[in-house]
Amino acid sequence: MASTAYSRPSKPPGPAAGDRSGPRLAKELGRIEPKKLGIGLVAGCCFALLTYLSFARLFAIYSPVFDSSSSMVLKNMPPATTTVPGTATGALPVEEQKEVRDPEADPHMPNLPEVTEKDQQEEATATKPAGGAIITEAKITCDENGVDEGFPYARPPVCELAGDIRVSPKEKTMYFVNPSGAGPFDSNGEKKIRPFARKDDFLLPGVVEVTIKSVSSAAAAPRCTRRHDVPVVVFSVAGYTDNFFHDNTDVLIPLFLTTAHLQGEVQLLVTNYKPWWVRKFTPLLRKLSNYDVIDFGKDDEVHCFRAGHLGMYRDRDLIISPHPTRNPRNYSMVDYNRFLRRAFNLPRDAPAVLGEETSAKPQMLIIERKGTRKLLNLPEVSALCEALGFAVTVAEADADVRVFAEKVNAADVLLAVHGAGLTNQIFLPTGAVLVQIVPWGKMDWMATNFYGQPARDMRLRYVEYYVSEEETTLKDKYPRDHYVFKDPMHIHAQGWPAIAEIIMKQDVMVNMTRFKPFLLQALNELQD
Ligand SMILES: *[C@@H]1O[C@H](CO)[C@@H](O)[C@H](O)[C@H]1NC(C)=O
Ligand SMILES: *[C@@H]1O[C@H](CO)[C@@H](O)[C@H](O)[C@H]1NC(C)=O
Repeated sequence: MASTAYSRPSKPPGPAAGDRSGPRLAKELGRIEPKKLGIGLVAGCCFALLTYLSFARLFAIYSPVFDSSSSMVLKNMPPATTTVPGTATGALPVEEQKEVRDPEADPHMPNLPEVTEKDQQEEATATKPAGGAIITEAKITCDENGVDEGFPYARPPVCELAGDIRVSPKEKTMYFVNPSGAGPFDSNGEKKIRPFARKDDFLLPGVVEVTIKSVSSAAAAPRCTRRHDVPVVVFSVAGYTDNFFHDNTDVLIPLFLTTAHLQGEVQLLVTNYKPWWVRKFTPLLRKLSNYDVIDFGKDDEVHCFRAGHLGMYRDRDLIISPHPTRNPRNYSMVDYNRFLRRAFNLPRDAPAVLGEETSAKPQMLIIERKGTRKLLNLPEVSALCEALGFAVTVAEADADVRVFAEKVNAADVLLAVHGAGLTNQIFLPTGAVLVQIVPWGKMDWMATNFYGQPARDMRLRYVEYYVSEEETTLKDKYPRDHYVFKDPMHIHAQGWPAIAEIIMKQDVMVNMTRFKPFLLQALNELQD
């Protein structure tokens, strides 16, 4: 009920949206009518919940990270900074492939395996897939009705399959040999899913739809042209990619949750393929999969697997919790950090400990924002930090993930104004300190759920500083008796356009007298 109170724009972010620029997108968002907005709110007794339910979802479209390059929000094009010539096919360097290209050449790999009792016994007794002769009983489980009240986009549909699975990208179909016909199929024996790990009505029309087609026998499925001894994951990188927050929440963490236990023995098939995106995150994709990513949009093979997923498991943004089916291995954000450190060879697992005889200064990294939510007196803040004993580096989040990951990992304290740049906390050593400056406008929910709680979950020390009405440029735009100051929740009640226009566009100038104790707290956290 809450989500319907806030209508999303109905225009899908399809190819036509490909040449939109960020500022224009922001403007368009600004123009979106907050349809029927008041109705749900007035009716609801749980005002705050309704508001946040919706804007948690709406917020994300705007959470810009890299300012100028965040113009890629709905773009299917690489940002200028990461354009690599000759990426038309996006092919990564070819590594040894495990699949057998010619099924006839492999006597252990019958072309049209049928499920037999003998084979099932083999499956039951086998501890490892050996030589590809094992046939698994057909099994499909789809998880698609999960609901997370606070995070309506957090339960995307995902199907897990085992058996004889034949993926034909050019038909956008996964044939599933399923003699019993059992499973979540429609009357045509089909199950259609848009495999993007964010259940977001605004985005989904732009996500390639993939069909799982249940067929009664292998003869009814296309012949395998390429066999894989490892499971497959078919997923989309459409959406708000190239916003670092969304790269992580909508693709990389879901991929981690879905595949980390396979230790690289998994084949990734990517729909809505973006060569620059795959290139940008190659170190992570390589850590998750030992095989070249396959572009689902440009592939004529019929790939055969014995297990796999269509879609990915996902949890709340940068917050992940144990779950019996979605996260059965109880991966935590600390595990994700460890994974990132290994993928990028980041050296530091722990911050510098002060108070020892070492004379090394604690390192502070300040992430600078150049578009909205600028820290106007950054030089003053930086000077105070130096005076307090920090060695300060100021940097804008870099398009080169590895370079920036190294910078962040070298820091003991990361300081930034609320924004997707704070996502870089994932590269901090465990135990380091995150300082979030929260702009004016009752941003508690976003500050906590997007960055504060994740910091705690990653076992970082977390310090948050809420600016007062004296420290925001909103005071130059609105009189003090305006609801912007008297009742900021009224901004939220108007829905996303107002939040984007008012709250997200302010700059801040922190009061040094007020801010100093928070810096001392950060310093103090490092003494423990
Ligand atoms: C995951 O956590 C649950 C409790 O939340 C526990 O019952 C289960 O045994 C854990 N699983 C693993 C693999 O540690
Ligand atoms: C800065 O904060 C201090 C402590 O809250 C306060 O006394 C002072 O008036 C503030 N300065 C400005 C310019 O608002």
